[in-house]
Amino acid sequence: MQHVQVRGQEAADRKSVFYVTTPIYYVNSLPHIGHAYTTIAADVVARWQRLRGGEVVFATGTDEHGAKNAQVAEERGISPQEHVDAVAAAYQAEWEALGISYDCFIRTTDPQHMRTVQHVFRTLQEGGLIYRAPYEGWYCVADETFVAESDMVDGKCPNPECGRPLVRVSEESHFFRASAFAERLEALIGQGEDFIGPRARRNEVLGLLRGGLRDTCVSRATVPWGVPVPGEEGPTIYVWFDALVNYLTVAGYPDDVERFAAVWPPDLQLMGKEILPRFHGTVWPAMLMGLGLALPKCLYAHGWWTVEGQKMSKRLGNVVDPVVLAQSLAAKTGAEVGVAADAVRYFVMREIPFGADGDFSVQHLLGRFNADLANDLGNLLNRVLPQVVARFEGKVPEGVVEEAVGASRLRALGEMEGRLEALDFSGALSALWEHVRGLNKYLDTAAPWSRTAEHERRAVGAVFYNVLEELRAVATAVEPFMPTVASRLRESAGAPAESEGWEAAKALNRLASGRAVRKGAPLFPRVDLGKTMLSISKEESPVSGSATISMAQFQQMDLRVAEVVEAERVAGTDRLLRLVVSLGSEGRTVVAGIGDRYQPEALVGRQLVLLANLEPVTIRGIRSEGMILAVGEKAVEGLLTTDGQVTVGGKVR
Ligand code: MSP
Repeated sequence: MQHVQVRGQEAADRKSVFYVTTPIYYVNSLPHIGHAYTTIAADVVARWQRLRGGEVVFATGTDEHGAKNAQVAEERGISPQEHVDAVAAAYQAEWEALGISYDCFIRTTDPQHMRTVQHVFRTLQEGGLIYRAPYEGWYCVADETFVAESDMVDGKCPNPECGRPLVRVSEESHFFRASAFAERLEALIGQGEDFIGPRARRNEVLGLLRGGLRDTCVSRATVPWGVPVPGEEGPTIYVWFDALVNYLTVAGYPDDVERFAAVWPPDLQLMGKEILPRFHGTVWPAMLMGLGLALPKCLYAHGWWTVEGQKMSKRLGNVVDPVVLAQSLAAKTGAEVGVAADAVRYFVMREIPFGADGDFSVQHLLGRFNADLANDLGNLLNRVLPQVVARFEGKVPEGVVEEAVGASRLRALGEMEGRLEALDFSGALSALWEHVRGLNKYLDTAAPWSRTAEHERRAVGAVFYNVLEELRAVATAVEPFMPTVASRLRESAGAPAESEGWEAAKALNRLASGRAVRKGAPLFPRVDLGKTMLSISKEESPVSGSATISMAQFQQMDLRVAEVVEAERVAGTDRLLRLVVSLGSEGRTVVAGIGDRYQPEALVGRQLVLLANLEPVTIRGIRSEGMILAVGEKAVEGLLTTDGQVTVGGKVR
């Protein structure tokens, strides 16, 4: 690898620890598949490095300061600290459920980090690299970015993912002299092939640099929720400056000299494509140059996920929470929750090439679950284990790895090594699956189940040995992607459950004959593609495995014929009516927004349709126990009713 050469580089080459980071996530919303994607990728890299015997620091965390986080806390009616504590805990729980093996979870409200931020600020200030000047311009609170007038699009935020209105800012500020480093940075990026990836992002950064690197505003006069500018009353340090410093805090900067020498610089910094070019590609290296520190070895950006062709948004109800998804997959298939979480990890790493944009769909997830996991991998186990139990007392038979089988394994593992080093996760998995499919073919050809004669026993045992020994090796190879599955595979194959390292995965004939295999429930029970729907968000959402719902789901809705007994307007509104309806055996009070179309007295005696098991809510002090069905997007056009008199309380089916 050809790395960028900067001051401190000799030390960087001697360092002992592999340091990988994710961005730190804003706590203005809960974790979703976009955040999980970066974090899973970083986890795969960290686990891969550990498998190869390296010492790793894998850091992730939460970005807790700034106007946006404070705004969300206010909307929730709680203090910013209460808010950030709760969301940081939600992130930690999410990562735990997804098997993320981080070594550090950094929070920017941590006092240690705040001291580091102030130290960095002061050092740059003392070096003449931070100066005071007024800022007059625009700010996007959602993105926490200053926007130059010339970059605005129709007066709004230029980020195509955002496009929100901007606020006008006019305040005394501090600027970081990023412009001082533009030329050096351009030259370094031009030299260091691997510094920024993929290539398109590198070109984007070079483009930005050629356009001229502007000094960046690094304080906010009017945002109290932040790290105070050292030695001043009032202003706080701009949230991005604060956030970028997290990578230094994790490495022990500035006080823990020993740790810093072992950890710095980062070997790999992963992130989404929108935060690479400007913040990580220019401001961050300029800050490090200003501090005289080595630059990260590689900054790499992945693409963005859409969901069933659409941008993820709360409004559309299509924000995918991978843990909800895994739980739902487990509930629908009967798979263990940890295995289902691994399936989600596998899917996001396998489905799209790292660096490109991708589209999430439940159907694709289920498709891969059935094809790659249930059919290819799961089946291999299911075809062998019952036979080993029935014919070899459940113990690994005697055998040696056949030449072709061993060669196929070594080919796959060799290719995986190259692909993983190049962050081609999908290619790595695809290479391994070649081998897994090959093993299924090997079994088809050897057809041990039809060779039941006693004189075949030894040969048949050897076939099973081959498959079990390969499953042991495959377990290690999938471990960075699917850690729970890896230990289940090892246990099933009769190998020790604990991780054994990459060299062991390459070693042939390592599985000891005579050890007990474990035949449990299928690891990946197949799903019915046409019928299975998965929940994707904490709140139920309209997106599903297909555009249909199952009969069972329809039957969960208790739709009843309701006869209106009383009707009156809710005081102070034109739109709301308070209805008392009869369901035959019981009465219900319902508040319905139909008053602009119907007079209350005209409704008494009419038969309408009520969704009777909707969670009750209180509207204007009245408890509403159900929902009257009506037609019309904004204004009510009509009410659902029956064709002639029917039984009151009758179920709609
Ligand atoms: N707090 C900053 C990062 C500071 S790092 C010093 C931030 N936070 S974020 O929560 O908004 O986003 C964090 C990451 O999530 C980014 O890498 C972003 O690309 C990723 N994703 C958010 N939505 C995404 C998708 N829909 N798809 C893929 N990743 C996306 O930015």
